[in-house]
Amino acid sequence: MENLLEKIDYRNIPHHVAIIMDGNGRWAEKRGKLRTFGHGNAIQSVRETITVGKELGIPYITLYVFSSENWNRPKKEIDNLMHLFHVHLKNHLEEIHENNVKIIPIGEIEKFSELIQNELIFFRKKTKHNRSGTLILALSYGGREEILRAAKNIAKKVHIGHLSLKDVTHSSFQNHLYTNDIPDVDLIIRTSGEQRLSNFLLWQSAYAELYFTNVLWPDFRKKDFFEAIINYQKRKRRFGRVV
Ligand code: IPE
Ligand code: IPE
Ligand code: MG
Repeated sequence: MENLLEKIDYRNIPHHVAIIMDGNGRWAEKRGKLRTFGHGNAIQSVRETITVGKELGIPYITLYVFSSENWNRPKKEIDNLMHLFHVHLKNHLEEIHENNVKIIPIGEIEKFSELIQNELIFFRKKTKHNRSGTLILALSYGGREEILRAAKNIAKKVHIGHLSLKDVTHSSFQNHLYTNDIPDVDLIIRTSGEQRLSNFLLWQSAYAELYFTNVLWPDFRKKDFFEAIINYQKRKRRFGRVV
C-alpha cells in the first residue's frame, strides 16, 4: 500500500471519478449464498472509496447505486436493496457528514418510497455547505432518461419563449442535467470485469477515461482504487487534439 501511495502524482488527481459498483451478485454466488448477501457486503467498499476520495482530494465521486433498469430485477432483490438503502442512509450518511462531504442524489428519486426520499432530501440539505468533497449517489438513474428529461425541459422553455434556440448550447444543455454544476467525469471505474457503461452518465463521460477491473465490488479496497488512479495518471488525454 505504501508503495502504491508513492506512485500517485498529487498534481494529476482526477476531478470527478464515477464508479459502476458491479459484481455483488457474483461475489455472493461464488460463496454459495443468495445475491442479496453480496449487496449486504458492499458497504465496506463504499466506505473505503469515500476515504480514498478524501485522502487524495478527489473533489467529486459519483457512485452508481441503482440504475433505471435495475427496477426490472425480481421483487425480492429490489425489496432487499431498498431495505439496505434505508439502513445505510441512516447509519452512514451521518458519518459522511462528519467528514464534511456534501451528498447529492441524482436520478428519478421520486420512484423510491417516501421514507427513502425524505432521507435523501434531509441529507442533501444537511450537507449542502460541506466543503471536503462531493459524493453523488446515482439512484434510479439512467443516462438516456436524464438526457431526454433535459431535452424536454429545454423544448418547453423554447416553446414558451423563455429560451431562444441559439442559446441552446453545450453549456446550457449541461445546466439542464441532474449534474448541472458538477464537472465532466474524468475517470469511470467499473468492477467485476464487465466492460460497458450500462446507461451511466452518458453525456458527462464523453471524454472520460475508462478503467475496468475484475475485482468484484464487495472485494474493492483502497489499494484497488489507488491502482485505478495510478493507471489513469499514465494515460495521455488528448481531447481530439495532437499532443
Ligand atoms: C451491482 O451488483 C449492484 C447493483 C446493480 C444494484 P450486481 O447485483 O449487478 O451483481 P452481478 O453483476 O449480478 O454480479
Ligand atoms: C449497473 O450494473 C448498475 C449499477 C451498478 C447500479 P448492472 O449489473 O445492473 O448492469 P448490467 O445489467 O450488467 O449492464
Ligand atoms: Mg451487475
